[in-house]
Amino acid sequence: MDARIAVLAGDGIGPEVIGEAVKVLQAVAGYFGHHFEFRDGLIGWAAIDGEGSALPESTVALCKSSNAILLGAVGLPARDSTLPPGERPEVKALLTLRRGLYANLRPVTLHPALAGRCPLKADVIGDGIDLLIVRELNGGLYYGQPKGRTGDRAVDTMIYSVPEVERIAVVAFEAARQRRKQVCSVDKANVLATSQLWREVVNDVARRYPDVECRHMYVDACAMQLVQNPRQFDVILTENTFGDILSDEAAVLTGSLGMLPSASLGDGTTPLFEPVHGSAPDIAGKGIANPLAAILSGAALLRYALHLEREAQTVEKAVSQTLSDGLRTADLCIAGEQAVGTREMGAAVIARL
Ligand code: NAI
Ligand code: MG
Repeated sequence: MDARIAVLAGDGIGPEVIGEAVKVLQAVAGYFGHHFEFRDGLIGWAAIDGEGSALPESTVALCKSSNAILLGAVGLPARDSTLPPGERPEVKALLTLRRGLYANLRPVTLHPALAGRCPLKADVIGDGIDLLIVRELNGGLYYGQPKGRTGDRAVDTMIYSVPEVERIAVVAFEAARQRRKQVCSVDKANVLATSQLWREVVNDVARRYPDVECRHMYVDACAMQLVQNPRQFDVILTENTFGDILSDEAAVLTGSLGMLPSASLGDGTTPLFEPVHGSAPDIAGKGIANPLAAILSGAALLRYALHLEREAQTVEKAVSQTLSDGLRTADLCIAGEQAVGTREMGAAVIARL
């Protein structure tokens, strides 16, 4: 397969971790006989310094003509604070790139080898946690009108339409088909009208996927179940606000921010793959950042943008094997463990592909 991948390394540790992810994708292309063309674009402070904008037109054009975008992180707090809020790279560049990408996918995997970093007890963790949160990203409370403040009252509006729910539900059921074939749709249908519509539409979509099991759970119950019995979940499907909260809760289960990849998908908009973490200015330039979130974002790119499932699994298995073999960046170490650097970790994954 031929594919064009826009590489936006960004600020802080972005270039360090994305560099390793690109090497992994290059190795995958070599083994499987694909041709990936990596095209670098400026974003964040590097772009402001070079071109005067956090997201220059040349980068937008590059993304539009690519099959996928691999993004590091943007923003440097010390410099961000010198700009008006609307001009900060995180707001300006990321919100623009994410426009039209209505499905946010966050795989949450606790590798058994990292169980010591998970706050849950060993019997709850069992042989590891592996779930996928599919969050609606363009609708609901964050965008609904009316919105705002008048005197001593403020209002936010939660709105969902049938097509908006349907398209995100389809993403969740399609993803479940590639996994353990279970969708748990999370809502608050006992109280919210939007949730009642959500549930109705999810049930309609579920009928098109008889091979996938579908159930519903209230969001408050789900918050509890995520820490009580996370292994019951395969795919969690939910709306924007609930997904924001549940994905941060679930993130803690993986042991480090440096482990979490994400994918943002839409129709006709170039999909975006990025680690969940930021630019980590406290460790930037030291060569110690964990590249696994970026490498696993590359695996997500293979799966969701290029539909190369076997290749995606090859990367994920290499990451698991690397962890099982005891390699740890500093963020993954518990007392007494020896840390490897960003490049060593990347090379160790490639050696195990
Ligand atoms: P952060 O995620 O950059 O860092 C939080 C903590 O986690 C730090 O102690 C950092 O060293 C550690 N950490 C993060 N990624 C790591 C990795 N791969 N390996 C090892 N340790 C890692 O969040 P913070 O400090 O709140 O934000 C820093 C900057 O990043 C800000 O300018 C913020 O706006 C931006 N940011 C950008 C995001 C994006 O581009 N999507 C997301 C979050 C923050
Ligand atoms: Mg959040």
